[in-house]
Amino acid sequence: MDMRVNIAGVEWKNPVTVASGTFGSGEEFSDFVDLNKLGAVTTKGVANVPWSGNPTPRVAEVYGGMMNAIGLQNPGIELFCERDIPFLKKYDTKIIVNVCGHAPEEYLAVVERLADEPIDMMEINISCPNVNAGFLAFGQDAGHVEKLTAQIKKIAKQPVIMKLTPNVTDITEIAKAAEAGGADAISLINTLTGMKIDINRKTFALANKTGGVSGPIVHPIAVRMVYQAAQAVKIPIIGMGGIQSAEDAIEFLLAGASAVSVGTANFYHPNITEEVVDGIRAYMEKNGFDKVSDMVGIVK
Ligand SMILES: Cc1cc2nc3c(=O)[nH]c(=O)nc-3n(C[C@H](O)[C@H](O)[C@H](O)COP(=O)(O)O)c2cc1C
Repeated sequence: MDMRVNIAGVEWKNPVTVASGTFGSGEEFSDFVDLNKLGAVTTKGVANVPWSGNPTPRVAEVYGGMMNAIGLQNPGIELFCERDIPFLKKYDTKIIVNVCGHAPEEYLAVVERLADEPIDMMEINISCPNVNAGFLAFGQDAGHVEKLTAQIKKIAKQPVIMKLTPNVTDITEIAKAAEAGGADAISLINTLTGMKIDINRKTFALANKTGGVSGPIVHPIAVRMVYQAAQAVKIPIIGMGGIQSAEDAIEFLLAGASAVSVGTANFYHPNITEEVVDGIRAYMEKNGFDKVSDMVGIVK
């Protein structure tokens, strides 16, 4: 039974990582999860300078999931490189650094700073508001996606995963733009924009008014988008959105993802990732798959 997967030339010991922002940079979960058992750890988003994030309240529970408007609070790339990368290097797992920015120069500064760091891949969060495009997310415009991807690829030393937002009309157009820009892989989905009203306070549940919906409620939408993206591009796909069991993860693999990320479920089931790895192995045994790639995208 071979659980290894090759994502853009990087070999993971199994196809399971965590979704950015739901696992800190690994340290806060390391008492609950043996990080050596994960294919990769994907860190929370990091920008060129520290960001304080949005005003509170910035998380709310919704049916089947949660909503957040954290606003990408992060310590900035310098502290991240000093503190978080050395922590993760103690484990036998791949390191994927999630990168955010408000403008291309901000992304490029982080990508450049990471060039000589001992990380394995970077994931570019293009759901960030783009200051040059009236705060529409980079990922909502195919032209911006292709251009930003190409700019990043020019200077990146590690393989680049472009992380797509689902808040678009046609996900295939954006997936193709990332591929055309030279992305080594894509990951999807980020959160879906939602709104919750607090009827007792008679105002928005989140200070930001809107927030990103995640958790089991988004899973069928995410599976549909991963399937569509897999029909449109040849580069590997990391599927995520609402995984809370091995079965949920296997759906993504059969729909065309080469690997999966577990997000919101970490908050209420901190060692869920280990169960997902074990459950995928058990499914492979039961169904006669010798390696993970044998089941990727078999549902057409
Ligand atoms: C609290 C929270 C923080 C997040 N922070 C980030 C982030 O920093 N960068 C990013 O690309 N995605 C971020 N995400 C999105 C997740 O990585 C993931 O794409 C999304 O939540 C869907 O997966 P899930 O339903 O399993 O959570 C965040 C999600 C949550 C719930």
